Amino acid sequence: NNYKSDSRGALIVLEGLDRCGKTSQSSRLLSFLERLGYLVESWRFPDRNTGVGLMISSYLANKSQLDDRAIHLLFSANRWEKRSLMETKLKSGTTLIVDRYSYSGVAFSSAKGLDIEWCKAPDTGLLAPDLVLYLDIPPEKAAERGGYGDERYEQLEFQRKVAHSYQLLHDASWKTIDACLPIEDVEKQLGEMALDCVTSCQKGMKALSLLWS
Ligand code: TMP
Repeated sequence: NNYKSDSRGALIVLEGLDRCGKTSQSSRLLSFLERLGYLVESWRFPDRNTGVGLMISSYLANKSQLDDRAIHLLFSANRWEKRSLMETKLKSGTTLIVDRYSYSGVAFSSAKGLDIEWCKAPDTGLLAPDLVLYLDIPPEKAAERGGYGDERYEQLEFQRKVAHSYQLLHDASWKTIDACLPIEDVEKQLGEMALDCVTSCQKGMKALSLLWS
């Protein structure tokens, strides 16, 4: 068939506030694409299994304190640790569905008052997503969903600021989905958008690019 040498997997990122439904939608999207026969893996950031990831995990659980800039750089380093594996996977034809990426990095840190350009700088040169699926939910609604856990950022006032920061990050790769719709409707929309993206990457219609293009 018309397999081209620049055929590759797609880098698809899910973003949104805490408790917007990203994690369960990622696994639904994974099964949807698998059922269609695509090579696909589900990833997430922070990846808590690396050395850097353990430091992040302890910070999020309020078990350690870190300067706002220091934790920001750790989140970024955690993505850099996975960059070359990410590129290898994509080039070998595997689509990656990634739960949070650089946009979370910038949205959460800039919500603390850090300069947005300063926040973006350390992620410059990471692979740019082909598609960012933003699960849009009012912060109040997210807070109602089974309540927040005890992680550091799960507070209404802070999530309001994060929502505002996300608004400043929309670019051409973004699609916003109403995360208040029934789960199945959200799933269906995400599936259609992802499939479109996977198809054009497979046909070699899209070159890999770098942040922040
Ligand atoms: P998680 O609940 O999706 O595992 O994410 C943990 C928290 O870390 C979540 O509140 C978002 C936040 N976060 C950042 O502050 N910066 C980042 O770069 C990432 C990936 C997540």
